[in-house]
Amino acid sequence: MQEDAIGAKVGFPKGFMWGASTSAHQVEGGNHNHWTVWELAHAAELAKTAQKRYGHLIDWEEIKTKVTNPSNYISGRGVDHYKRYEDDFKVLKQLNLNSYRFCIEWSRLEPEEGKWNQSAIDHYREYIEKLIEMDIEPVLNIWHWTMPVWFTNKGAFAKYSNIKYFDRLVQKIADEYGHQLKYVITLNEPNVYTSFSYLIGLWPPQEKSWFNGLQVYWNLVQAHRRAYKILKKAHPHLQIGIATQLANIQAKRPHNLFDELSTKIMRYGWNWWFLTRIRRYQDFVGCNYYFTDHYTGLMKRINPKTPLSDLGWYMEPEGLYPILLRAWAHYKKPIIVTENGVADAKDEHRRWWLEESIIAMERTISEGVEIKGYFHWSLLDNFEWADGWWPKFGLVAVDREHGMRRTVRPSAKWFAAKIKSLS
Ligand code: BGC
Repeated sequence: MQEDAIGAKVGFPKGFMWGASTSAHQVEGGNHNHWTVWELAHAAELAKTAQKRYGHLIDWEEIKTKVTNPSNYISGRGVDHYKRYEDDFKVLKQLNLNSYRFCIEWSRLEPEEGKWNQSAIDHYREYIEKLIEMDIEPVLNIWHWTMPVWFTNKGAFAKYSNIKYFDRLVQKIADEYGHQLKYVITLNEPNVYTSFSYLIGLWPPQEKSWFNGLQVYWNLVQAHRRAYKILKKAHPHLQIGIATQLANIQAKRPHNLFDELSTKIMRYGWNWWFLTRIRRYQDFVGCNYYFTDHYTGLMKRINPKTPLSDLGWYMEPEGLYPILLRAWAHYKKPIIVTENGVADAKDEHRRWWLEESIIAMERTISEGVEIKGYFHWSLLDNFEWADGWWPKFGLVAVDREHGMRRTVRPSAKWFAAKIKSLS
């Protein structure tokens, strides 16, 4: 690593993980889990109510036909990644990426309670072996929100007694794959999952209950701690953490008492509460960064109106810098940017987003923060949960109507060249 005029470290350390992320349900296709059941039951209603959710977006006229079609909300064949993973790994290489974050689909491994599906177990083994053979660091994520139907029928993470089923899954993953891995992420964004599924009632099981929400949140803390112990016991070399969504939260009106208070509450509740509960059970902090959020009054979010992504989200990629600094100040643990990206079908903003994110990381590194890797969200266009197929997050576009054709976006080509120049 080089030093600047005042002796600070500049540039990215040797062995820095340049990668991309996906999650099983969003790309694999052919899954049967609690989300597929929910999608099929709600697609028609989501299509009917689309204007209410997206009517305000600048591209409404362009997206109207897609978002009012129920098929937008069904994951179906995904982008066929389950079958095409080798080709997708070749694309990773083509983009000069040396790492890949992916997720195991629990409902494939254990479609019925306590019965393991050998062909799925073999599939993920071959998948990991392929990555290693191609010199791509596999970062395995155990849980990215989807669950087998039998598990949700038992009440999923709302019941403390159900954590034992997750323990068993973790043990299985440790036994089958632990020796081949260096990095494991146990949970993806417990904060987003809990609030969307249990507080605001958007995602299955669509509850709006603070009582259940807090119980789920707490049980996920326990699930992670137990998973950490199981994995460490089986493979002490493993580096384990969660991927949490960290927002750069700011007061809308500086010096306003309410805005400052809301900001403090949100920073603690959203960003730090969970991480603080697991601080002794993590080897790195996994940061998913998408948002700079401005809070006002009684925890009301009012963000600047421009610039906006296709989803209408305010874009401030530079916000990665303060959030990484704060995460470091809180936990003094290496940080991995486990997700970061933008919905941008026309590829108008992605290059700028990538460039600002790289600068933000470089500035953070020069402040002495240990950052181990950056995983862009996402490698491929994928299924955006309740928003369905229309938002495009991929470095690589996927044309689901024409043989799932993959096309590397111009911003991704720029990214590939940039990584080369930085390595
Ligand atoms: C999730 C991803 C999702 C992305 C973009 C993250 O919060 O982990 O699954 O696709 O945001 O919405």
